[in-house]
Amino acid sequence: MSLEHHQIKAAFSKAAKHYEKHAVLQKEALARLLDRVDFDAFESHQAFLPETILDLGCGTGWAIEPLLKRFPDSTIIAADFSADMLRQIKPHKQVETRQTDAHAIDVHAGSIDLLFSNLMLQWCDEQTVLREIKRALKPGGLVHLTTMGQHTLHELRYAWSQIDDKPHVNHFLPANELADLALRQSYDDVIADSELITMTYASVIDVMKDLKNIGAHNTDDKRSKGLTSPRTLKELAKHYEQFRTDDGLYPATFELVYLRAKKSGEDKGLPLRIKD
Ligand SMILES: C[S@@+](CC[C@H](N)C(=O)[O-])C[C@H]1O[C@@H](n2cnc3c(N)ncnc32)[C@H](O)[C@@H]1O
Repeated sequence: MSLEHHQIKAAFSKAAKHYEKHAVLQKEALARLLDRVDFDAFESHQAFLPETILDLGCGTGWAIEPLLKRFPDSTIIAADFSADMLRQIKPHKQVETRQTDAHAIDVHAGSIDLLFSNLMLQWCDEQTVLREIKRALKPGGLVHLTTMGQHTLHELRYAWSQIDDKPHVNHFLPANELADLALRQSYDDVIADSELITMTYASVIDVMKDLKNIGAHNTDDKRSKGLTSPRTLKELAKHYEQFRTDDGLYPATFELVYLRAKKSGEDKGLPLRIKD
């Protein structure tokens, strides 16, 4: 595992106790992802009662309660590579926490009916994780996930590009390339789309702090590893100025990408309908 991978894990473990206080975007993304699951249910005429749901990169387990509300008879495996994140999850008889890496998920092959994952994939090697998810799913099993898209933090990317040519904001896959990856791995019924969410901040420094929270900070080897000097920050703020809103705030755009796909094989009555 790379040093960067260990650093990501360490950063999440450190953030675990206060994660929910700062994770505004993540909470919004979670609500929208759950809406997607509901929409699938609405569209369907068949019941889908997933026996086992895997929440991959579950963090503090925010998704557990709404998932159990929708699927009251399901067992949920709440999986994350950070033990500190998993420790925040309240014990529940239908929930099993599991410390595991998304690149090598510690579940039996073909054991998961619904794979749910909110804003974890942008930290990972997408191809490897999609392959692992497919291995974990039962034939006919469904994946619903969110990740970050290519337009994420375009304002900051532009401001940095006026200063140097180093990569300061990660490169994220466009929705269509994520769909291509899934199709190349022979997933069925692949749907990938995206929407923009704009958050506003009091300063450019606040924008940069959020980078780390969502995994948009750069993991490229070529990135500048030193702290940003006050002079550079001032210059950055100057180039960011053109995006400033009328009420004096600094906007940051996040492109939320959704992927919905099915593992080919026996149709288990998908898409789903939530049990009344
Ligand atoms: C932005 S948080 C999202 C947490 C949760 N899904 C939510 O909606 O609040 C990303 C989570 O993914 C986990 N994570 C990142 N990379 C991972 C990996 N390779 N394997 C397992 N978990 C990972 C982090 O520890 C963190 O808890």
